[in-house]
Amino acid sequence: MDKKIVFSGVQPSGELTIGNYIGAIKNFAELQDEFNCYYCIVDLHAITVPQVPKDLRKRSLDVLSLYMACGIDPEKSTLFIQSHVPAHTELTWVLNTITYMGQLNRMTQFKEKSRKSDENLNAGLYTYPVLMASDILLYQADFVPVGEDQKQHLELARDLAERFNYRYSDTFTVPEPLIREFGARIMSLQDPESKMSKSDEDANAFILILDDKDTIRRKIKRAVTDSLGIMAYNDEQPGLKNLINIYSVFSNDDVETILKRYDGLGYGKFKEDLAEVVVEGISPIQDKYKDLINNKDYLEKVYKEGAERAEYAAMKTLRKVYKKVGFIPR
Ligand code: AMP
Ligand code: TRP
Repeated sequence: MDKKIVFSGVQPSGELTIGNYIGAIKNFAELQDEFNCYYCIVDLHAITVPQVPKDLRKRSLDVLSLYMACGIDPEKSTLFIQSHVPAHTELTWVLNTITYMGQLNRMTQFKEKSRKSDENLNAGLYTYPVLMASDILLYQADFVPVGEDQKQHLELARDLAERFNYRYSDTFTVPEPLIREFGARIMSLQDPESKMSKSDEDANAFILILDDKDTIRRKIKRAVTDSLGIMAYNDEQPGLKNLINIYSVFSNDDVETILKRYDGLGYGKFKEDLAEVVVEGISPIQDKYKDLINNKDYLEKVYKEGAERAEYAAMKTLRKVYKKVGFIPR
């Protein structure tokens, strides 16, 4: 029986945080035995905000190395760079023509980004979710593992698949989001009401996968909690709740166990241990990353082979789409 298909992507637009790791990449590795997985480095998406070209190149290889350092095996999964497969932009054009502007106007990520960057309100930022839908639909993905913030974009992808299928006959698989209940939204360490984001101005708000040990310890020590001083897991203590979530993911202990262990010990001791749990969990990833990033020949081999495999699958879908909309084959 053919394996079901999984697709996901990460933008090479900054250094990755433990939010990216917990919400997305950690799950990618766990899916690769059961599914036929495509994991993409979405550089076309990244340029919707200004990038320094040299940094973009470096970060694309960083994400590739981190994918593998987090356990994704290029023999099992297809790892590739979005701009290497032109079908992504080609399908985007077709899907643009069946996307309503009203739908794009409702995208919260676009609304947020446009509020922040009124100087660079470019059309790419607006059609970003259509490119994302193309990524997914080209591979006939059944499942898309993402963090909570991508849910709305996924609904658009489903909607476009259904609309195209209805208008032109069955063509696309309608994808389902895979959003883990736990860890799908890791919050800022400085403001537990907002998402941990690599673009936060305050570097204390996030922990990078590549932060050194002392930086991790310092950031956790400074993390905002509350003045109640009671070890508990609830929405009135969102800072603490977030830290418990992080502890749980890295230690594999459940919330009950953690609460019992630190009952009456105070936040100080809990934070101290949390820092060690995170450092211990992340060190092996950092070590693997350091090996990989210096092995440029190997990285090149991985992304070239990945692009070939990805292109083969993508072109199959694109040819069907072009035929159905009435383009004459070359
Ligand atoms: P991005 O960095 O925006 O390309 O996001 C890559 C993946 O990480 C997406 O699946 C996001 O949903 C996920 N992600 C980003 N930030 C967080 C966070 N704070 N908590 C959980 N998942 C996240
Ligand atoms: N928009 C996603 C993010 O910022 C990245 C992304 C691009 C993606 N294309 C995708 C995620 C396709 C899943 C599937 O996190």
